[in-house]
Amino acid sequence: MAQKIKVWDGAVRFFHWAMVMLVAGLWYSGSEGYIALHQLLAYSLASLLIARVGWGIWGSQTARFSQFAASPQAAIKYLGNTRPVAGHNPASSYMIFTLLSLLLLQIISGLATFDNSYMSDGPLVAALPARWVDLASAIHSLNIDIILALVAVHIGFALWHSWRHDNVIKTLITGNSKISDAPQPRLRNSWSFFVMLAVLLLVMYYWQGRALLALL
Ligand code: HEM
Ligand code: HEM
Repeated sequence: MAQKIKVWDGAVRFFHWAMVMLVAGLWYSGSEGYIALHQLLAYSLASLLIARVGWGIWGSQTARFSQFAASPQAAIKYLGNTRPVAGHNPASSYMIFTLLSLLLLQIISGLATFDNSYMSDGPLVAALPARWVDLASAIHSLNIDIILALVAVHIGFALWHSWRHDNVIKTLITGNSKISDAPQPRLRNSWSFFVMLAVLLLVMYYWQGRALLALL
């Protein structure tokens, strides 16, 4: 019988929706040339992603990378027989690892992306040879289009799954789900994720944020 279980902890839910807002702001500010704001949002996203990587190692059962990493065969099999899963399903896990990796690549390439002044260039621009900077800037410009295309597919699947099976979008907001016979996953208190996030934001603030805020 279906009974209510808690699938996502506070860390994963906060991470996801904060990331969505930051990526939207990064896309807008990057495209419109608000580069100080762009970089402030980028260092916030970097903190969020690093904290999520930590939580993927020591966090709740459903947040751990080792728990939702799946073989290609399992992903293909799942696509042939979709059903509700308490956590990431084998197919969505591939999308998640890809999106996380591409966002990290966007941040790393951004650090070496050329704008047109030493105040708004990425902080590695001055230290790297010109051809590396050109390459990083090209990657930064191309990779965002790949990210946006994959996000469209990701949202499409989330909507389809919510219509066809269980409402996974609501579950990622409330944390709760009703799935037949699924045992309650072992969730951990999210405090260490938020402490790590706060420490990382502080480090980013002293490294780059202070100077960028003065430019706003
Ligand atoms: C910038 C846009 C987005 C990005 C980069 C993104 C990325 C991600 C990532 C990395 C995860 C894994 C979360 C974790 O384990 O911590 C995830 C999960 C999820 N996202 Fe998104 N997402 C985006 C937008 C959206 C939107 C707009 C929706 C809803 C309409 C959505 C629905 C979901 C759902 C339902 C899951 C859970 C998937 C599952 O059941 O395996 N995402 N997303
Ligand atoms: C520390 C990380 C980052 C830094 C230092 C950075 C820096 C920059 C700079 C200097 C530009 C201006 C390039 C130009 O004038 O053409 C730029 C453009 C842009 N950035 Fe970033 N960025 C970072 C992260 C990100 C992230 C995470 C995203 C999106 C998820 C993003 C999306 C964009 C977009 C869409 C553009 C416009 C690209 C274009 O004009 O073709 N950036 N970034």
